[in-house]
Amino acid sequence: MGGIKFNGVFFLMVLQIFLVATITGDETCESDRKMEEQCRLHNYKTVKPLLDYFRQVRNEIEQSENKEKQISELNSDLMEKYHEIVRIHETFMKEAALLNEYKNKVIKGKNDLQLCQNKVDKSESEINSLKEQLTDKSIKLETCQVQLKSVNSSLIEKDENIKIFSENIKNNTEHQKTLELKLEKSKSILVKHEKDIQLCRSENNKLNRTSENIREEHINIQLKLTESETKLIDKVKENQLCQSALHKLSPTTCIPFGENPGVHQLNVSGIGLFNVLCDSQLAGPGWIVIQQRVGGNESFDRDWATYRKGFGSFESDFFLGLEKIHRITSLQCFELYIHLVDLGGSAIYNARYDDFKISDEDNGYALSLGNFTGTTFGDGMIYTENIKFTTFDHDNDKDDDDNCAVLNESGWWYNECFPSSNLNAPYGPLLRWWDKSYKYIFNLKEVKMLIRPKKR
Ligand SMILES: *[C@@H]1O[C@H](CO)[C@@H](O)[C@H](O)[C@H]1NC(C)=O
Ligand SMILES: *[C@@H]1O[C@H](CO)[C@@H](O)[C@H](O)[C@H]1NC(C)=O
Ligand SMILES: *[C@@H]1O[C@H](CO)[C@@H](O)[C@H](O)[C@H]1NC(C)=O
Ligand SMILES: *[C@@H]1O[C@H](CO)[C@@H](O)[C@H](O)[C@H]1NC(C)=O
Ligand SMILES: *[C@@H]1O[C@H](CO)[C@@H](O)[C@H](O)[C@H]1NC(C)=O
Ligand SMILES: *[C@@H]1O[C@H](CO)[C@@H](O)[C@H](O)[C@H]1NC(C)=O
Ligand SMILES: *[C@@H]1O[C@H](CO)[C@@H](O)[C@H](O)[C@H]1NC(C)=O
Repeated sequence: MGGIKFNGVFFLMVLQIFLVATITGDETCESDRKMEEQCRLHNYKTVKPLLDYFRQVRNEIEQSENKEKQISELNSDLMEKYHEIVRIHETFMKEAALLNEYKNKVIKGKNDLQLCQNKVDKSESEINSLKEQLTDKSIKLETCQVQLKSVNSSLIEKDENIKIFSENIKNNTEHQKTLELKLEKSKSILVKHEKDIQLCRSENNKLNRTSENIREEHINIQLKLTESETKLIDKVKENQLCQSALHKLSPTTCIPFGENPGVHQLNVSGIGLFNVLCDSQLAGPGWIVIQQRVGGNESFDRDWATYRKGFGSFESDFFLGLEKIHRITSLQCFELYIHLVDLGGSAIYNARYDDFKISDEDNGYALSLGNFTGTTFGDGMIYTENIKFTTFDHDNDKDDDDNCAVLNESGWWYNECFPSSNLNAPYGPLLRWWDKSYKYIFNLKEVKMLIRPKKR
């Protein structure tokens, strides 16, 4: 197009032509002719290719409109297809679920099959064991049959025995008849006996009645007895009260002076008034001291009369006197407590006797002790039980040759003169305690013999 000159007039012309061409499509040919006429003035030949181009453009636009229409049609088609696909998908999902269900059913069926198989196996093994048992049983049956045969033979034997027994029974029925006769006789005898028993019973009842009377009387007597017993107990209590009052007025022991030991006066029948030393320190309250060795040099080598009367001083060594001890201990039961201090002074022992008593002078003031208890290793007085008293002028000991009181320089209840406890011996090696087995011997520094009434 290098030959076309662009100026303002030419541009306006072109624009007019374009507008006519686009607006008046139907009148193209007529306007074309007009244009050709108009354009003959101008250089029509240069404009014609441009007009052809515009026509081409207009055709193309029309074509594109048709295509849009086709696209929208295709779109609606596509939507329809899409909905169909969705429907297909849903049915597919439903079928998948159904499939799954079938799968599960198949698995379950498999399991059931397995269980069934197991049951079959079990039944098989059971059948096998039953078979074994059956063979066992058949073996047993055979042995049973053998046994049955032997039983059958013994049965036949028994049948024979039964025949014999039935014979016996016949014999026995005869015997029974005779026995029945005897029984009749016995019955009549029994009736007679019953009558006798009736008689006996009535007799017995009579006796029973009298025995009941006796029993009642017995109960009455018992009641009366308990009544008089309680009366007696009251009387005894009264008497005791009376006695204790009397004892306080004229004491025969140290019991009334338990709270106030020391020297007190007793009033004992046969002797009258005399002083005693009362002790409440060594073994509780109310003890009478009948002999004391506390280190004084009082001689215990005394004659019968002196031992009978007593000697020494309550402040030091003394012996209360055989007659006083006899009189005191004949009024009631006494216990004896012997207090012993070892020569070293370190060890203190006691020996107790539960039935202490001295007989009268005619019986040699013989000693009774009773049962021993104590902390000494043994009973050192065991050989003096029931032994009479001996002094140098009154030989009552068991030694035929010697007077032990002379030999041992003291009055004492000597059995023989052999080594034994002598609590009246002079200070030195003879004043000692022996146990009965002669195992433990200890020399003494201090001795006290105390007596007290036994508690009832
Ligand atoms: C038992 O013995 C009898 C006589 O011998 C016979 O007839 C019967 O068959 C026997 N029974 C058996 C079970 O053996
Ligand atoms: C039965 O009694 C008769 C006569 O008393 C006697 O001879 C016979 O042996 C008895 N029979 C038996 C089975 O005891
Ligand atoms: C005496 O009679 C009583 C009651 O009546 C009775 O319980 C008792 O057994 C009889 N005693 C005798 C020996 O009959
Ligand atoms: C001593 O006791 C007797 C009775 O045993 C009595 O007669 C006498 O009066 C009493 N003496 C004194 C001093 O109490
Ligand atoms: C006590 O002993 C002393 C010294 O040995 C003596 O002089 C005195 O006479 C003795 N007394 C008696 C009562 O034996
Ligand atoms: C002494 O002991 C014996 C036997 O243990 C006993 O039978 C007796 O009654 C006792 N004596 C005293 C007075 O307690
Ligand atoms: C008596 O004296 C003799 C000789 O000294 C002695 O052997 C004996 O043990 C003494 N007996 C007593 C009981 O003291």
